[in-house]
Amino acid sequence: MAKIAVLPGDGIGTEIIEQALRVLRALELPLEIETAPVGGAAYEVHGHPLPESTLRLAMAADAVLFGAVGDWKYDKLERALRPEQAILGLRKHLGLFANFRPALCYGQLTHASSLKPELVDGLDILIIRELTGDIYFGQPRGRRTAVDGHFPGAEEAFDTMRYSKPEIERIAHVAFRAARQRSGGKGGKVTSVDKANVLETFQFWKDVVTEVHAQYPDVELEHMYVDNAAMQLVRAPKKFDVVVTGNMFGDILSDEAAMLTGSIGMLPSASLDANNKGLYEPSHGSAPDIAGRDLANPLATILSAAMMLRFTLQHAEAADRIESAVGDVLSAGLRTADIWSGGTTQVGTRAMGDAVVAAITKKSIRTKS
Ligand code: IPM
Ligand code: MG
Repeated sequence: MAKIAVLPGDGIGTEIIEQALRVLRALELPLEIETAPVGGAAYEVHGHPLPESTLRLAMAADAVLFGAVGDWKYDKLERALRPEQAILGLRKHLGLFANFRPALCYGQLTHASSLKPELVDGLDILIIRELTGDIYFGQPRGRRTAVDGHFPGAEEAFDTMRYSKPEIERIAHVAFRAARQRSGGKGGKVTSVDKANVLETFQFWKDVVTEVHAQYPDVELEHMYVDNAAMQLVRAPKKFDVVVTGNMFGDILSDEAAMLTGSIGMLPSASLDANNKGLYEPSHGSAPDIAGRDLANPLATILSAAMMLRFTLQHAEAADRIESAVGDVLSAGLRTADIWSGGTTQVGTRAMGDAVVAAITKKSIRTKS
C-alpha cells in the first residue's frame, strides 16, 4: 500500500489539507496516510520547524502532501528555526530538485485573471524551477552572527549564487522531456530563463542548457533574460510552453504566472527527485491573515493531490477524476472569494471541498451503473 506523509503546516495549511484528504478518501484508493507537524506548528511542539520524526516520516513515505508554512510571528527567530526552513530542508534532504508549477487557466476563470480574458483563455504553460541549488543554498553570511534573526550594527550581508554542471544538466533534461511529453511527441518548446548578460552563474546555465539541448533536436529551445520573461509573461503568456529556470527566478516567475490563472489559490505543484518520488504542495503560502476563517481556496491543494496520484502513485485515472471534478465545480459557478469574479455561488473552504467530493462521488456512481 502506498504511504503518504501528510504535513499540514501553518496558517491555512490545516484547512486546505483537510479538504484534499476528504477528496482522496472519496476515491477509495489503497493509501496509508500519516500526519506530522511541520513549520511553525512543529516549532511549537518540538522546538524545530523540521523535527527528526517529521523528516523520517517524509523520507519513509512514497509521497509527501504538504500544506504551507510560515507566520509573521516567527520573523524574530534565528533563520535556521523559521518555518520556511522546513520546506527548504525537505527539498534538500529528499533531493527534490525538479519543481513543476503548471499555470493552467480554467476556461471558467478567465474573468478572474488580472489580464484581459483573450490573453489567458486556454493558457497552459509549465514552469520548471530548479529547487535545490542557486542562491537559496549557496553560502550565506550571518547565520551564526545573527541575533534574533537580525544583524545589529552589521555593515554588510551576502548570499552566494552557485550552480554546478550536473545540477543544470539534470533539470535541463527534465525540461526537454516534459516539453516532448506535453507536445505528444511533436517536440514542444523550452524557454530557458537566465540573466546571462550580468551573472556568471547564468551564463554557465545558458551554456549547459544549450549543450544538453543537442540531445533533443525535436524540441525548440529559446533563451530569455529574466526581466524580459517577467514582461512577456504578462504581455503574451500563451507564447510560452515549458519555462525552465533557477531556484530564485523560478520562485518569482511562478508567483507571477499563478496570477494569470485567476488566483494563486488554483495552482498546484510537484517537487520531484530523480525517481519521481515527490512532495506535492499548493504554490501559495500559509496566508495567516485568513487562517481559520474558512476562506481559503482548497483547490490548489486538491489539484496537488491529483498531481501526486499521477506522478508518484501511478493512479492517472484517479487524478483525472479529481481534475474533472474541479472543472465541474467551477462550471457550476462555485467560487471561493479569491476567484469570485464570474461566479454565481460564493463558498468557503469546506463547502468547496464538499462540492469536489460530491462531484467525484456522483461520477463514480455513474461509471459503476
Ligand atoms: C515557494 C515559497 C518558498 C520558496 C518559501 C516558503 C521558502 O515561496 O515555494 O515558492 O521561496 O521557495
Ligand atoms: Mg514562492
